[in-house]
Amino acid sequence: MCGIVGSINHYDIVPDLLEGLGNIEYRGYDSAGIAVLNNNELTTIKRSGKLRNLAQELSLKPLSSHAGIGHTRWATHGKPNETNAHPHSNHDVSVVHNGIIENYLDLRNWLTAEGFRFQSDTDTEVIPHLISLFLEQGLPPQEALNIALKHLDGAFAIGVLFRRDAEHLYAARRGSPLVLGQSDLGLCLGSDTMALTSSVDRVLYLEEGEQARLSRDHFCIIDANGQPIKREMKLFSHQIDSQSKQSHQFYMHKEIHQQADTIRETFYHTQRQVPELPINFKQLDRISIVACGTSYYAAMVAKYWFEQIAKVPVDIDVASEFRYRDPLLSPHGLSIFISQSGETADTLAALRYAKNQGQKILSIVNVAGSTIARESHFSLQTQAGPEVGVASTKAFTAQLAVLAKLALHTGHSRNAMSFSDASHLMQEISTLPGLINMTLGVEDQFKTIGESLKACSNAFFIGRGISYPLALEGALKLKEISYLHAEGFGAGELKHGPIALIEPGVPVFVLAPSDSLLEKTLSNLEEVMARGGRCIVLADQRSCRHLPENVESITLPDCDSRLTPILYAIAVQLIAYHAALAIGTDVDQPRNLAKSVTVE
Ligand code: M6R
Repeated sequence: MCGIVGSINHYDIVPDLLEGLGNIEYRGYDSAGIAVLNNNELTTIKRSGKLRNLAQELSLKPLSSHAGIGHTRWATHGKPNETNAHPHSNHDVSVVHNGIIENYLDLRNWLTAEGFRFQSDTDTEVIPHLISLFLEQGLPPQEALNIALKHLDGAFAIGVLFRRDAEHLYAARRGSPLVLGQSDLGLCLGSDTMALTSSVDRVLYLEEGEQARLSRDHFCIIDANGQPIKREMKLFSHQIDSQSKQSHQFYMHKEIHQQADTIRETFYHTQRQVPELPINFKQLDRISIVACGTSYYAAMVAKYWFEQIAKVPVDIDVASEFRYRDPLLSPHGLSIFISQSGETADTLAALRYAKNQGQKILSIVNVAGSTIARESHFSLQTQAGPEVGVASTKAFTAQLAVLAKLALHTGHSRNAMSFSDASHLMQEISTLPGLINMTLGVEDQFKTIGESLKACSNAFFIGRGISYPLALEGALKLKEISYLHAEGFGAGELKHGPIALIEPGVPVFVLAPSDSLLEKTLSNLEEVMARGGRCIVLADQRSCRHLPENVESITLPDCDSRLTPILYAIAVQLIAYHAALAIGTDVDQPRNLAKSVTVE
């Protein structure tokens, strides 16, 4: 949700700002802008729409500077137009901001009465004016910033340039993430490590309430009380894999195709990490799993696994509900938080709630060093590598891979499964990368079905048991990248209402692996067909023998029925991808969305 960058360097920083913004454009792409400092003047250039609009403007009117800040926006307050684009600057101060200033209306009224004129509808614009108010009272930049921050309620990560302080770039965070980077050429900041340019080889994560002052060669960290504190940068190497789409038209397609490798890597790492966790799985009486969006669907699958394989009761919640419903957590329980980005504001707030309740916190994140990872007692990292497409694909299956291993380990520790079943499941898990490749091998079939959705306005996904979360995930994938209206249902729930939506020709994807619920799922398929719905069955080699004649279907490889979610994830991703491609949406950066949701 909004990406910020900043740089102060011995060389021109404008190319670095653009490169950094390009790397984090997935955080928001409603507008982009930069502000730079030259000869005691601030220059701000911003454009609505994607970063390419800003880059084009800068190619016509080049800027250069040794210090600057930049922003890519996901609109919260105010329309996604040029006026509301960041940086927000006045004569003396320029600010980029990720977060929400909740008391901005009060501040705006106060500052207006003090004579400040507002240009935008944003919450952010109060920040430069507030700082200016204190500069006008004769305070130096650092103090003016300190006092201004004390007036802000809400969440922020900001980068600040002062017209009269050409030697420094300022930063502060409360609630939103911020990382500093250093290279031999200078210092920089960003919303996450992806924002840091390739020359950066040291990083430092700002902690809650901290500020930083950067010069070309030095940095100073200031704690929430305004006191300088000493902390070293840590060595850092970039994950450069994400930077190119290779031969793929979109990152999402590349990421779908990486899943045999990312699953293999994740299984391998988790296999080694899980036994080392200092958690007494034997004594657990309850697990609570919390996440948002696709990560929540991973939690739903995990509930089946932990309950069936490890015989532990599991509660699952979407983070935005969990955090406000005063959940009762077992004193001997474990709380697991799942997040690709490791920065999702709702998930982080839920984690803090559970931690305050004395829970042991285990997180599963894809981004190493992210806030959720750092605030957990233990963290397992999925080995999906950077995921650039806004729609989560490889991160989801990697989360499932970690959760499958965790459930297996828990089941084994609690003697809840026999040795032979545990070995069988391990063996089945090891075959998954090959089965994923087989599924990717029939992509043309998914393409044909996906393209056929172009003419539809609604689509439904149904599944039972462990396929139910995948029905929800299939619908989410389709709606977020193709903008088709799609819903997922537990197949048995159809008759309780949703079946009223079935009319002739409406596509209904039926997830029908050969598990113990197959017969019941096939009855639900018949109910849809009887009403003229167009059923498209995702089956496997065993279950496809039981399908009615002439029903459309795609056959996936057979696998242990407990592991089908991983294969069916690939199937629903490919259907959504090809539907979106046929419709012509911007697959990697679908409208209204952002990859890292750092506001409530
Ligand atoms: O980074 P997180 O896993 O915490 O993100 C959670 C959701 O915002 C995310 O899964 C979202 O639903 C994706 N766009 C789904 O493709």
